[in-house]
Amino acid sequence: MFRMMPEQASEVAPKIDWLIYLITDISVFFTVLICGAMIYFAIRYRQRDGKHHETPQIKGDHLLEMVWTIVPTIICIYVAYYGVKYFYDIRHVPLDGDVVTVNVQGQKWKWDFEYDNGKKTTGEAVIPVGQHVKFVLTSRDVLHSFFVPAMRVKTDAIPGRYTYAAFKPVKTGTYQVFCTEYCGKDHSMMLAKVRVVSEAEYKTWLDDKSEELALLKMTPPERGRAAYNKHGCNACHSLDGSRLVGPSFLKAYGREGTYDSGKKYAVDHEYIRQSIYEPNAHIVDSYPPNLMPNYTDQVSAQELDDLIAFIRSLDGSAPVAAQPAAAAQPAVDLAALSPIERGKLLYQQKICVTCHSIDGSKLVGPSFKGIYGATQKHVDGSSATVDEGYIRESILQPGLKVAEGYQNMMPPYEGQLSEEQIKDISEFIKSLK
Ligand code: CUA
Repeated sequence: MFRMMPEQASEVAPKIDWLIYLITDISVFFTVLICGAMIYFAIRYRQRDGKHHETPQIKGDHLLEMVWTIVPTIICIYVAYYGVKYFYDIRHVPLDGDVVTVNVQGQKWKWDFEYDNGKKTTGEAVIPVGQHVKFVLTSRDVLHSFFVPAMRVKTDAIPGRYTYAAFKPVKTGTYQVFCTEYCGKDHSMMLAKVRVVSEAEYKTWLDDKSEELALLKMTPPERGRAAYNKHGCNACHSLDGSRLVGPSFLKAYGREGTYDSGKKYAVDHEYIRQSIYEPNAHIVDSYPPNLMPNYTDQVSAQELDDLIAFIRSLDGSAPVAAQPAAAAQPAVDLAALSPIERGKLLYQQKICVTCHSIDGSKLVGPSFKGIYGATQKHVDGSSATVDEGYIRESILQPGLKVAEGYQNMMPPYEGQLSEEQIKDISEFIKSLK
């Protein structure tokens, strides 16, 4: 009855199911028994002929009392015993040795996996059948929860902490992973797969470093899209024609027009190269100058070709697909960094760098240099001292206080930065005297 558990794919699964079904069956049995008796008595001894009937006043029955005390107690102890025993089985995490260790990072809204040999995947973990597997979980931002129903394991992924989900898969197949901790807008899309394969297939897969070769397999526009995400072009250049800080890339290639300087232009390879390496060379459509940093040292010649191919591909013939997950972040040991260094890294990674200088020069937003502790005037005439609370609010809800002389252009970073990260950025800004 009520056999609704999913496929049993781990060693512990049959035990868990047995216990769950036992508890369910006992509950159903007693629910039916008790409710049945209630209903029976209610009907059998209902008030009849409008008269009150005296009850027999039974004063108790020792045997009955003992039976209904001792039997449920034994059942409870029995269930608790197996509950604890199997809980230990689930929580038993082998330290090392014959265990396949996979590092897992949850991030809104994806699961990243990394193996001991450096192999990385996103959205799919491959593990060998019949071996103990230990997923070491953490999170880059908020609480997530790593749930593999077929394995009967579920563990929270917590920022700043390691937790473990360990199990021994007993059959090959592909199993669904869910995030079971509400973590924001795309929580329900935060899925992954665990693919259990034979030992031999696992070895081949693990040694296959073609992930690196995958870049070679990509077409130039695909690589260009990766570069577009990696270099943060997406912060200022839309793919759907909407006007952001800079011109959209949609149907950009081949576009003809007039520079603000009055000369005529057509967007071709050389135009794009110049726009990336000498962004102030040509300003069009009244976009403000001096906003785009010079990418000479950052975008390689190969990436430039790829970006051009990508922009050429945006000719409007195909709907712009949702952006794939951003390119893997460079491996940096965050724990080894000081808060200021972490803040600086975030400043670059979160593209603050595009709009806020650190040398006092005016970009789209106020420079960070010397801003901490200063009094900031706002467009609405108010003013406030820039402190940690001010910075936090400016990051999360930038529209609330717009600095005098600037426009309300910054996207809210609500949900994109953890409190720790905001603190780190604060520390970084504080250090810019
Ligand atoms: Cu991650 Cu919900």
